[in-house]
Amino acid sequence: MVGAGQLARMTHQAAVSLGQSLRVLAAQPADAAALVAPDVVLGRHDDLATLGRFAVGCDVVTFDHEQVPTEHLRVLAAEQVRLCPGPDALAHAQDKLLMRQRLAGLGVPVPPFREVTQPQDVESFGAEYGWPCVLKAARGGYDGRGLWMLTAPAEARQVVTQLLATSVPLLVELRVAMHRELAALVARSQFGQGAAWPVVQTVQRDGICVEVLAPAPALDSELAQSGQQLALHIAATLGVVGVLAVELFEMPTGELLVNELAMRPHNSGHWTIDGAVTSQFEQHLRAVLDYPLGCPAPRAPACVMANVLGAGAPSGMVLDERLHHLMARYPQAKVHLYAKPERPGRKIGHVTVCGESLVPVRQVAVASAAFLASGAWPDGHPVHARERETA
Ligand SMILES: Nc1ncnc2c1ncn2[C@@H]1O[C@H](COP(=O)(O)OP(=O)(O)OP(=O)(O)O)[C@@H](O)[C@H]1O
Ligand SMILES: [Mg+2]
Repeated sequence: MVGAGQLARMTHQAAVSLGQSLRVLAAQPADAAALVAPDVVLGRHDDLATLGRFAVGCDVVTFDHEQVPTEHLRVLAAEQVRLCPGPDALAHAQDKLLMRQRLAGLGVPVPPFREVTQPQDVESFGAEYGWPCVLKAARGGYDGRGLWMLTAPAEARQVVTQLLATSVPLLVELRVAMHRELAALVARSQFGQGAAWPVVQTVQRDGICVEVLAPAPALDSELAQSGQQLALHIAATLGVVGVLAVELFEMPTGELLVNELAMRPHNSGHWTIDGAVTSQFEQHLRAVLDYPLGCPAPRAPACVMANVLGAGAPSGMVLDERLHHLMARYPQAKVHLYAKPERPGRKIGHVTVCGESLVPVRQVAVASAAFLASGAWPDGHPVHARERETA
């Protein structure tokens, strides 16, 4: 796996059970997966010679991010390195403009968009579709980086001029008034077998996913099914091998628009480790190694994953102490830590809670993640009976 972040770390965990050994290409020895995987190659993912050396002896090469230059992927593929997903598919997860154009060409609903090569492109788009609009870097963005909300023509002119001067490829799109955000996660094997997990709701704050509710609560069953079908259709049409996450906007009209594609395990699928018969990490391995796919069915009626985001100023307790308190209070919470330094806003872990109904499950998951991040329970979180006694 090229890249050694938390996705590679959790893929390694799944590889252990399948009797496989995951080699990772890590930028640093302290990368989340480099700390745990047995076979670590240190090097840059944007260096062709490094990628070539890394691939020698691998059955298949897959990715924990989208940042490998597409032209390098094409060279490797021409040299018979087996890449999953291949460059023709992966290009649509690497380049938001190419993805929008291809999906629109296939008749898949996407927000209105336009390529931006000069500031006037945004101004005329805004004049046509209205303000605010969303300016996006076509390549290289993640977690809301590479995304600018533009409210008026003057602001647009200034921001676009600055960005174009640094040669960032750009597109602009309508800021859609969605009802909520969903994700349809599927896998497709080399053989062409497909499997779909239940459609989930994702909750974002400041452009970062903070919570995933599985399945998406009160989602119309036909709409859920059409989301799954859409994702399987995109996977088959683009020739994706591995996990495909389709980020969706649910519109008030009941329509689904595609926001973004990721062709790897995705934050919206972390809940599957504890909440589904087959996790997205195991499924990704099965798909790229051409095993039959595992059952994607949920193991509980409600499952919530909350990300642990590094807090600005955690309380006096170190993370291990916070973990202790959390485990004592909520033995049902499943904690996954990535061994990453606690920088503000950075994803350093996640907590998953499964149960019979959404409301209590969500409350525990969200409070647990907040406590792990900060050492404090959120305002209004009910005080545990035993804590009341000791108080
Ligand atoms: N056209 C739009 N209209 C309204 N909100 C949008 C639009 N595009 C993006 N957003 C908001 O910004 C978030 C991030 O956008 P996007 O997924 O394109 O960027 P990213 O930085 O690549 O994200 P990721 O964290 O998935 O890597 C979306 O989840 C959504 O909340
Ligand atoms: Mg996104």
